[in-house]
Amino acid sequence: MKILVVGGGGREHALCWKIRKSPIVERLYCAPGNAGIAQEADCVDIAADDVFALTDFAIDKAIDLVVIGPEAPLVAGLGDRLRAIGISVFGPNADAAQVEASKAFTKELCDRAGIPTARYGKFTDPQEAKTFLDSLSPPYVLKADGLAAGKGVVIPETREEAEAEIDEMMSGKFGDAGKTLVIEEFLKGEEASFFAFCDGITAMPLISAQDHKRAHDGDKGPNTGGMGAYSPTPVAGPAIVRQTMDEIILPAIKTLADEGMPYSGVLFAGLMISEDGPRLIEFNARFGDPECQILMMRMLSDIVPYLKACADQELGGMPPLSWHGSAAVTVVMAAKGYPGDYEKGTEIRNVDAASAMDQVTVFHAGTKRDAEGRLLANGGRVLNVTARGNSYREAIDRAYQAVDVIDWPGGFCRRDIGWRALKTSS
Ligand code: AMP
Ligand code: GLY
Repeated sequence: MKILVVGGGGREHALCWKIRKSPIVERLYCAPGNAGIAQEADCVDIAADDVFALTDFAIDKAIDLVVIGPEAPLVAGLGDRLRAIGISVFGPNADAAQVEASKAFTKELCDRAGIPTARYGKFTDPQEAKTFLDSLSPPYVLKADGLAAGKGVVIPETREEAEAEIDEMMSGKFGDAGKTLVIEEFLKGEEASFFAFCDGITAMPLISAQDHKRAHDGDKGPNTGGMGAYSPTPVAGPAIVRQTMDEIILPAIKTLADEGMPYSGVLFAGLMISEDGPRLIEFNARFGDPECQILMMRMLSDIVPYLKACADQELGGMPPLSWHGSAAVTVVMAAKGYPGDYEKGTEIRNVDAASAMDQVTVFHAGTKRDAEGRLLANGGRVLNVTARGNSYREAIDRAYQAVDVIDWPGGFCRRDIGWRALKTSS
């Protein structure tokens, strides 16, 4: 089988690493890829959102399956174009990808499908938005409706701050994404990320994983794309998995299919596990990054038949996935200054030595090689040091031993990834 993976981050490195292990893969391409992905796949110099060039490439190379990593090409309709010419695609069409592209779309889907979620209102008028605050108690959850690179959510503690924030968001703080505002009731509980493979008709659960969104230790500092993650999530045991499938994932898949927007790919549900069970915070139309990295480390099954089954509506006939029973963590190494200003081009050494350690794999996010073959940082999040162990303690210790082998004065990482899991399991 000839496969094209679209994207160039740590998530796509992990996907390529896992896909490469499949005996049924004959050629693997990745567009645009990165220095780590180049060890697994033929990297192609096409941007992940260049829908036309990607489609031409897929036709030219007679690709059998395209696996789309990030949300931008999904929302731009790459899935639609490839399906229209008969190429199998892992990833939803643009209409179903609205679950991620529009928070209001998801809230309305929840209403129609009876999915438990926070009570909300949707506003284009600041005065109406402020009046709605009367019906809520603090803290308030304010969300820009559109895609805002994961930064469009603000949670003010007081009414005064909330009103000021409404004015800022609606006057363009997040660009057009904030012109429509969703305001929600604040949910209490512990967060967990849940992933399910979907083929448009049915769905199959993967395992849970949880990221650390804040830049600094103690879950402090600014929000980021994710500074690390751990799996399994102690808070999402088997009963929660069943409830999430029955009350959230399957109703969403059925409603989207009934409305002519079948969802194929991986559906990522951000959950709040409340006293009354799982509540949906948000859907994403793709794997989490860095959650994907640990899912790939823990997956025992060959992933390729599952990706193809999602694309071809054949998931119903597939056996359940099998997993390493162990724990896994990933520690993100980022350029100093991230998520603010940071330098590109600093040299990184000893990554291969770290990756050769027992039950450790270092996935690359923003990396490139210079003409002499030196590895350079080429982004904010740069490496994902990922390890498995028989316990959280073992996995965490292995990951940090590998981090300490890497020689990168220009980088930093959090030192407390997995702390919540350690606390629960000890
Ligand atoms: P989102 O971009 O929708 O995932 O929101 C970002 C973060 O804001 C989530 O990971 C939660 O920590 C928090 N959050 C979002 N919605 C709520 C809510 N209704 N109640 C409590 N926390 C929330
Ligand atoms: N790590 C969170 C995300 O990928 O959205």
